[in-house]
Amino acid sequence: MTSQLFVGTFVDTPSPGELRIRQNHLLGVDEKGFINHISSINSESSQILLNNLSLLNLNPIELKKFSFFLPTFNDLHLHTAQYLFCGLGLNLSLIEWLNKYAYKAEERLDNDLNLTEKVYEILIKKLLKNGTGFISAFGTIGIESNLILARKMQEIGLRGFIGKLSMDQSPRPTYGESSVNDSISSLIEFLDKLEDYLSKFQSHERLVQPIITPRYVPVCSDELLLKLKKLGDERGIRVQSHMCEGRDQMDLVYKQRGKKDQDIWNDLGFLGPNTLQAHVTYLDEEMIPLLKDRQITIAHCPLSNAYLSEKQFPLREALDHSLNVGLGTDIAGGYTLSIQNQMRQAVVISRLREGARCEKLNCSFAESTNKGEKNLSIDWVESIYLATRGGKKGMGLGGCLEVGMEFDVQLIELTDEESPSGIGALDLFDIESKGIDSEEEWKRYIERWWCNGDERNRKNMWI
Ligand code: GUN
Ligand code: FE
Repeated sequence: MTSQLFVGTFVDTPSPGELRIRQNHLLGVDEKGFINHISSINSESSQILLNNLSLLNLNPIELKKFSFFLPTFNDLHLHTAQYLFCGLGLNLSLIEWLNKYAYKAEERLDNDLNLTEKVYEILIKKLLKNGTGFISAFGTIGIESNLILARKMQEIGLRGFIGKLSMDQSPRPTYGESSVNDSISSLIEFLDKLEDYLSKFQSHERLVQPIITPRYVPVCSDELLLKLKKLGDERGIRVQSHMCEGRDQMDLVYKQRGKKDQDIWNDLGFLGPNTLQAHVTYLDEEMIPLLKDRQITIAHCPLSNAYLSEKQFPLREALDHSLNVGLGTDIAGGYTLSIQNQMRQAVVISRLREGARCEKLNCSFAESTNKGEKNLSIDWVESIYLATRGGKKGMGLGGCLEVGMEFDVQLIELTDEESPSGIGALDLFDIESKGIDSEEEWKRYIERWWCNGDERNRKNMWI
């Protein structure tokens, strides 16, 4: 049964290069929050729906002329506790940075639940303000702080996965789990308590679910990893971790185990459709087709990689092989919680990779496409795909505006005068006099919003 109706322009990206702009459309949402209708306002089905619903006094909400609906952004990888020290220490190497800041911040939140409440409330509100409607979170090792995260997300209205960290070989004596059994029993206690909390909600009201989260190979024994895998399979719970992120991590793993990071995950059976891996920068390129076959999902964190990894993820190659990829802020490995910034950074980094290729080929950007193997850059439309559909597809969710998908949507207004969204006085005059009435014009304005828009353009969110 339809409970909400919207009329206006709907923008989404069903596949990586495809910007779908549907003007003058009617969208219906059912009482459980799923899209149950989207069609041109003049279509027969829209007219029938409108007639039926006007009898029930349900009238559509009509968008202002220069506004559009876009699916919410998705942050496939962030460390919620690390918001505490966001923006610090990014001159360090990954392992130095973990030792100096990350473990300490997480330990602090586990030991001070009042602070956890405050940090998580601020973080969730800021994420929503920035258009993020779904996250896959790395929390802490503690049970209570992760339950606080779940409660706050549920109460404030942010969808996502919550990862209680597992790590039985922590380098920090005061922050870790003392044995495999200790680690597994603490995870089971968390899962049971989370389930208990969620049991009071109907299934469509549940915004959060757990995800098994071995932190990364250097702090987890093989025995722990195997038990976590088994638990995930038994309970049908997804798994997330960090794979092949930094040079020092790769070296440490090889020293500890005599194998490459990616081979450990593969040999232990983790590379499958239920696995989300962050970074994956030190990936041997021959692995790309294998990862595609196994249907794993990758969280690409371009800003974080520019600091804590010496390499960048081969994004163009991954998209060309149809791998599932979304974007992650990796707070606090990246310093901004805005996925809009990550979209821009993903494009910039891909252009730097292409620039390096031009340098080798001794040619310009304009000439490079027809030379050598492949242009390595991505464009802004592909980045919107990564930020919306790409982030949800591999996680069993929607991310587009299609019947059956969750109505997780943001409302963007192009003409907010306070926002530097790139619409100057002349254009403002232009669109106000004429309106935006062709797809081509919409595309131009959306591109300019993509470059310079910010939270001031965001007028509403629905999760
Ligand atoms: N690898 C293991 N732990 C972490 C973390 O907290 N952040 C990042 N970026 N990489 C990690
Ligand atoms: Fe991370």
